[in-house]
Amino acid sequence: MYRLLFSLVFSHMDPEDAHHLAFRVIRMLPALGFGRLVERFTAPDRSLEVQALGLRFPSPFGVAAGFDKDAFVVRGLGQLGFGHVEVGTITANAQPGNERPRLFRLVRDRALVNRMGFNNGGADAAVGRLSRLARRTRRPVLGVNIGKSRATPVEEAIADYERSARVLSPYADYLVVNVSSPNTPGLRGLQELDALAPLLEAVRAQAGATPLLVKIAPDLADDEIVRICELATRLGLDGIIATNTTVSREGLAAPASVIEAIGAGGLSGAPLAGRSLDVLRIVRAHVPAGLCVISVGGVETAVDVQDRLDHGATLVQGYSAFIYRGPLWARQVNRGLARIRRSREATGEAARVPT
Ligand code: FNR
Repeated sequence: MYRLLFSLVFSHMDPEDAHHLAFRVIRMLPALGFGRLVERFTAPDRSLEVQALGLRFPSPFGVAAGFDKDAFVVRGLGQLGFGHVEVGTITANAQPGNERPRLFRLVRDRALVNRMGFNNGGADAAVGRLSRLARRTRRPVLGVNIGKSRATPVEEAIADYERSARVLSPYADYLVVNVSSPNTPGLRGLQELDALAPLLEAVRAQAGATPLLVKIAPDLADDEIVRICELATRLGLDGIIATNTTVSREGLAAPASVIEAIGAGGLSGAPLAGRSLDVLRIVRAHVPAGLCVISVGGVETAVDVQDRLDHGATLVQGYSAFIYRGPLWARQVNRGLARIRRSREATGEAARVPT
């Protein structure tokens, strides 16, 4: 049904306009009182609960950052079955992001390219919505992802992140330092240890007791990933999110001319899955067992999500496949996960040991 709707309607619309339309529908769910009804149909099975970061996640599967940058549809997304929603990236300053067009579909590759550039209303404007959300009991776990404002020079990045952390951490169930989006000049350079260590220490001081995670790029070399894992462990961070979008364009089915015409941006979706899984393997092998590792990049099905969990992910997130699979995606994943669990229990098969 959704496939038909996608091919007849959404695929002919500008991707960002389609996003806004879907967004409006999700926003209406709780407002119209449909939410509870939908929730009955989508609620994850109890067996999927995960305890992590001192929190109870109703499902290991959540929405990655970027879908709900300003925290407008968190409750609706929870009612569709997502166990957590990571809002953001929110920056200290409100900013419009890059000029449109800035979001592109590669349908044959089941991928997206975006150069949104952290379009968001800024930290202060998000406070009202986040504080109302934080007070609710019926809602998904709320992650808040922060990044550097474009107008702030890289040398002043720490103060910029500190401001967002100070303003937003009181309402976040967990806070994420995003140093891995390819669309803000100089941002990914903050992944270098000399820059990253003081940044994470400064944000940690502002975040207080709120669990703190760092989100990394898939384009880091393997040894750079290992060093970030060692740093995160040394600083006592609560988790690592791997990965953001990639600047690579390898292995795409789309013609070179199409890819070239799209231009700069981060690639997400199915083509990212292989590298994202590789990065998960590296991270899991180099952090303590108790550290929360959130795997994101190219997951589409319950089997994909279960595979990440089997490779040591504590939680899994997705974004791009939501566009291709539609509003029942989280429900399908949750039901598939519950089925996999039941069949493993029935056959006595233990979860695979992470490699
Ligand atoms: C993103 N992503 C992202 N990540 C982040 O940390 N902050 C952000 O603001 C955004 N914005 C954003 C916009 C769009 C349009 C997309 C497609 C993605 C990256 C996202 O959270 C995730 O890491 C990647 O998309 C990989 O997951 P999927 O899409 O392959 O499931």
